[in-house]
Amino acid sequence: MFDDIKTVLVTKNEIEAMVKRLADQISHDYAGRQLVLIGVMKGCLIFLADLLRNISIPVEFGTITASSYGSGTVSSGQIKIINDIDIGIEGKDVIIIEDLVDTGLTLNYLRDFLKLRRPKSVHICVAFDKPSRRKHPLDVAYKGMDIPDEFIVGYGLDFDEKYRNLPEICVLKEEIYSGIID
Ligand code: PRP
Repeated sequence: MFDDIKTVLVTKNEIEAMVKRLADQISHDYAGRQLVLIGVMKGCLIFLADLLRNISIPVEFGTITASSYGSGTVSSGQIKIINDIDIGIEGKDVIIIEDLVDTGLTLNYLRDFLKLRRPKSVHICVAFDKPSRRKHPLDVAYKGMDIPDEFIVGYGLDFDEKYRNLPEICVLKEEIYSGIID
C-alpha cells in the first residue's frame, strides 16, 4: 500500500494540531447551546471521531451519506441521499462535518437539505479544502487547511475505497489512478 504513495502532504502531528484547534474553537463558540455534529460519510469518519473526542462541551452527532451522480471526477451536479440522519435537529445548532470540499456541490446541497428540518443554525466544518476547485461558493465557518489540487488519500479519504486507513494525508502516485479517473 505504501508503495502507491508519492509523498506525505499533511503529517499526523499537523492533523492532530488542526483537529485540536477546530475543536477548541467549536467548544468556545457553542458553549451553552444544543450542538449537533452531522458527519458526511464515509470520508468524514476519522475526522469526526477525532473532533468529537476533542470537543469539551455537550455534543450529539449523526451521520448522513450522499453521493453525486457522474463518472470519475466529473459530476453531473446531482446529489442523492443514500442514508439520512437518524437524529432530530429541529431547534438545534448543527455543524456539518466534512473531510474534503472540492467543487462545493455536496455541501451546498446538504446544507439546504438539513435546513428543511428547521435547525436553529447550520454551519460547515471541513478538514481539507481545495479552493482552486470550487464551482459552488460555500461559506466554511471552520476550516482545517487549504490544500493544492493533488489526488490525496488517507485520514478517511479514499481512492476506490482504499487508503482510508492511512494516518496521514498522502498524495497518490499518478500511475495508480491514471486511466481510471478523468
Ligand atoms: C468526497 C468528499 C465530499 C465530496 C466533495 O466524497 O468527502 O463529500 O467528495 O466533493 P464536492 O465538493 O465536489 O461535492 P466522496 O464522494 O469521495 O465519498 P466518500 O466520502 O465516501 O469518500
